[in-house]
Amino acid sequence: MTMKADRAPSRLVFVGAGNMAEALLGGLLRAGLCPPDRVVVTDLLPERLDLFASRFGVTTSADNAEAVRGADVVVLAVKPQSMDALLAELRESLPQEALVISIAAGIPTQRIEAALGGAPRVVRAMPNTPCLVGAGVSAIAPGAAATEADLRCAERLLRASGAVVRVPEQKMDAVTAVSGSGPAYFFYFIEAILTVAEEIDLDQETARTLAVATMEGAARLLRETGLPPDELRRRVTSKGGTTEAAIGVLEERHVSASLQDAVIAAKCRSQALSRG
Ligand SMILES: NC(=O)c1ccc[n+]([C@@H]2O[C@H](COP(=O)([O-])OP(=O)(O)OC[C@H]3O[C@@H](n4cnc5c(N)ncnc54)[C@H](OP(=O)(O)O)[C@@H]3O)[C@@H](O)[C@H]2O)c1
Repeated sequence: MTMKADRAPSRLVFVGAGNMAEALLGGLLRAGLCPPDRVVVTDLLPERLDLFASRFGVTTSADNAEAVRGADVVVLAVKPQSMDALLAELRESLPQEALVISIAAGIPTQRIEAALGGAPRVVRAMPNTPCLVGAGVSAIAPGAAATEADLRCAERLLRASGAVVRVPEQKMDAVTAVSGSGPAYFFYFIEAILTVAEEIDLDQETARTLAVATMEGAARLLRETGLPPDELRRRVTSKGGTTEAAIGVLEERHVSASLQDAVIAAKCRSQALSRG
């Protein structure tokens, strides 16, 4: 049986009621992609289950094996280090026809398939924290048995929290380096601007408003014009002007090279973590 990509799951189970599950489930319920009475959420922590029950009106359970019985879509949303124990727990009761969507960073689909046994249909997804406000981006990759309909189903559920791109699984470490860790790079920039705010005679609140709106505006300009970033940068940089003074310092201190090294370091770390 293949998943009907355009239809709401008849039993959607989230295993792990953490921050990411909260973001993704909140998005898809708000988008009306699945009624709450068809959703079951599991966790080890009773307080997380209480929160999900009261906030979303979903069914909750502390029994993973029981919860996944009869599920047609199961989202694995526990930390990577909890995955092996969880997969062993699910092996007997996970329906063979269920689509498994794993959001655990660095866990290859092959490892999930082997641990579950048989030929489970697995889609691996890498969301990022802006999913919490519906402005995330997720990359998805199919496992060996996942179908086009499975990818479309995963896409539809994740799109409720942001954009979705498809990549071959071997690109997931690079994706992690760009969009998984990526929000932190931009926060780092804003942190630097806020650190110097008083020195340039701006209060924190005004500086934060200006910096955040500028980051959002720059992102929209990139998206909506489709122009390359260096072209947009040139357009705000006049000879002898303020931007030229700023970029001159960044160039002199090799900030671009440092950022490039940072992205490569994130990818290498992701590769190392994936190897276990
Ligand atoms: N945050 C990100 O930016 C990001 C981005 C992409 C992907 N991800 C992935 O998303 C996944 C979830 O991340 P998160 O930040 O939401 O983590 P989290 O807040 O720690 O949530 C995981 C939840 O699952 C629970 N749990 C652990 N083992 C369990 C089990 N066997 N059965 C049921 N529940 C279990 C945890 O309980 P305990 O606290 O008691 O262990 C915790 O409440 C991770 O695999 C992460 O790699 C995160």
